[in-house]
Amino acid sequence: MRVVSGIKPTGNLHLGNYLGAIKQWVGMQADVEAAGGESMYFIADLHALTEWSEPAAITDSTFEVSAAMIASGIDPARSILFNQARVPAHSELAWLLNNVARVGWLNRMTQFKDKAGKNREGASVGLYDYPVLMAADVLLYRATHVPVGEDQKQHLELARDIAAKFNLDYKTDLLLEPEPLISKAAPRIMSLRDATQKMSKSNPSDAARINLVDDDDAIAQKFRKAKTDPEPMGESWESLKDRPEAKNLVTIFAALADRTPEDVVADYAGQGFGSFKPALADLAVAKLGPIRDEMVRLIADKGAVDAELRKGAERAANLAAPLLRDVQQAMGLRIG
Ligand code: TYM
Repeated sequence: MRVVSGIKPTGNLHLGNYLGAIKQWVGMQADVEAAGGESMYFIADLHALTEWSEPAAITDSTFEVSAAMIASGIDPARSILFNQARVPAHSELAWLLNNVARVGWLNRMTQFKDKAGKNREGASVGLYDYPVLMAADVLLYRATHVPVGEDQKQHLELARDIAAKFNLDYKTDLLLEPEPLISKAAPRIMSLRDATQKMSKSNPSDAARINLVDDDDAIAQKFRKAKTDPEPMGESWESLKDRPEAKNLVTIFAALADRTPEDVVADYAGQGFGSFKPALADLAVAKLGPIRDEMVRLIADKGAVDAELRKGAERAANLAAPLLRDVQQAMGLRIG
């Protein structure tokens, strides 16, 4: 069992990243160890380059994401924690896989269409090629499982297609098709202002998301002001099916509390959101406050965090080297 996943260091790390990805990773750490496998979590700094950011913002965000992972419970002694740029094998394998992936496959990627918008001609080549680098990230380590939020599912299906085509073209079984593990508790946390949009790092409205560095007052305020319809809670989870705002808040509550949404609805059945929202705010402050405090402490100690990333990168590079070499040889390249 080898679990691999990453987070792009851009914008504001938020509750969706925590519930959809990081919390799941922390929960898996012990199982992976018990199975004698490895957990590998990285900061996808090369992916951050696909849309313009100030270089200093990428550096800062790299520390923020690393701090969030460690503060949430990813232990660098138990998981391999590193930043992608320190392991050049990611870029090298991506180039090789560029020759396996088809233009038609990339043209179907919804994230590219969303991010490029109307200005496709002006999008970077990196943005277009993003999913191939992402495939390299996981195929490089023969990952068995890739825990992510739902928005990454299409990219992982592409990684599987690339692996299958490579194996077929080069008559080998070097690349392993990884299983996406989509978070059950929080596959898609939505914006607090508009439940038809996912909570995202780049939404210009800060009130739409809970940032992992928000202070207690900001967390509480944002939940109190979260958009809801005027109806009370309802009697069952099923009864919320056409009420996206209510569903989103219940999903967040349940994921933070490690309870089922059915249980949470039963507790608040018939009550107004005027009482549910403060309870959610208190819960979020209790769960996220200590993580934020530890993040702030770690962000102030960049030297220590960077030392962990460097150590993790060395371990990752050692795991990556044999596969990269085998792939190069399978493709007829003379190396070494
Ligand atoms: P990124 O940085 O956008 O998001 C990191 C993780 O958070 C999840 N996520 C969410 N989950 C639930 N609700 C939301 N609103 C929400 N928003 C984000 C994402 O699904 C993801 O799991 N391309 C990736 C980074 C990456 C990667 C990889 C992931 C690069 N290489 C290889 C896995 C394997 C990304 O931009 O995630």
